[in-house]
Amino acid sequence: MAKRTMLMLGGTGFVGRAMAEEAIARGWEVTLFNRGKRAVPEGVARVVAGEREGDLAGITGGEWDVVVDTWSGAPGVVGRSAEALKGRVGRYAYVSSRSVYAYPPPEGGTEEAPLVEGGDGDYAQVKRGAEMALEEVFGDAALLLRAGLILGPYEDIGRLPWWLNRVARGGRVLAPGPRDLPLQYVDVRDLAAWTLDALAAGLGGPYDVVSEPGHTTTGSFLAACAAATGGAAEFVWADPDAILAAGIQPWTDLPLWLPPGPEHAGMHGANPAKALRAGLRCRDVTATVADTWSWLQSIGGKAPHRPDRPPVGLPPQTEARLLLTLP
Ligand SMILES: NC(=O)c1ccc[n+]([C@@H]2O[C@H](COP(=O)([O-])OP(=O)(O)OC[C@H]3O[C@@H](n4cnc5c(N)ncnc54)[C@H](OP(=O)(O)O)[C@@H]3O)[C@@H](O)[C@H]2O)c1
Repeated sequence: MAKRTMLMLGGTGFVGRAMAEEAIARGWEVTLFNRGKRAVPEGVARVVAGEREGDLAGITGGEWDVVVDTWSGAPGVVGRSAEALKGRVGRYAYVSSRSVYAYPPPEGGTEEAPLVEGGDGDYAQVKRGAEMALEEVFGDAALLLRAGLILGPYEDIGRLPWWLNRVARGGRVLAPGPRDLPLQYVDVRDLAAWTLDALAAGLGGPYDVVSEPGHTTTGSFLAACAAATGGAAEFVWADPDAILAAGIQPWTDLPLWLPPGPEHAGMHGANPAKALRAGLRCRDVTATVADTWSWLQSIGGKAPHRPDRPPVGLPPQTEARLLLTLP
């Protein structure tokens, strides 16, 4: 049987890299299209140099079973690639985001929740705009992966890397309460595996791709960080009110964490039943955390950081000031 072929638009960062690695592990023949600025995953069959906003010549001649696109800028760029590939790829998957839902999305929200307007605006609008641009060209053959928070090796936002480095440093570590607050995310490798399964099965349309609500909790997540790093961390649990009163920003200063309330319910309370019914499996938090720590150590502890995303993490002085007030 002929090898299945995949065109990966990107493929050398975080999510696209995981897609390429998963496809290679399955014996698929993988072509990457990018500007050639970063290391290529081992086993890639071909790398085509090009510019998404300019020269697509390198991909206008070939044919592939599937294409996966991780673009997060202007929607027109996705529309252009879709037009260029129309009739020459079977299915087109776009790594979208749950940000396309009107904010904050309802607790238990599904793919039916209200959407933002698509367009050349903020992150949510460009992600929705890209979905629309793709659907216009590919119709039902467009698979829209509305990922929740994505964690795992090669993460280039710095969320899990920040927590790992902080817990590894040890001592008294500010732990944002409550301890049993549910956390929901998807391991990048589970997202990739499900995407390829879905493409192979001929699925199309939108899917919320994220673990079940309560997949883990802040307490279990931090325990996994301590176990993986071996850091002698003493977690000091703080009430959300004390954290907010100290001027600490949820989500960015303390990655992953949102105080209980509508924002938390929307971000960590999605209902991914449709993807679960279609076979999504999410590994345990201990595996995501341990594997990300192994990767982080293999690159000397300093995670890459996407320049177009704000830095994350709590300045040590801010943490120390609040810790002084806590028993
Ligand atoms: N992190 C999260 O929690 C989260 C949650 C939901 C959704 N998402 C979505 O997940 C996706 C993340 O994707 P990723 O960045 O990790 O994908 P990736 O495909 O691994 O990396 C980005 C790729 O794009 C290439 N690239 C960048 N600019 C280019 C250009 N102008 N022309 C051609 N190629 C270009 C880069 O290579 P070169 O630099 O060499 O060109 C790189 O290979 C985004 O769509 C994001 O919206 C993320």
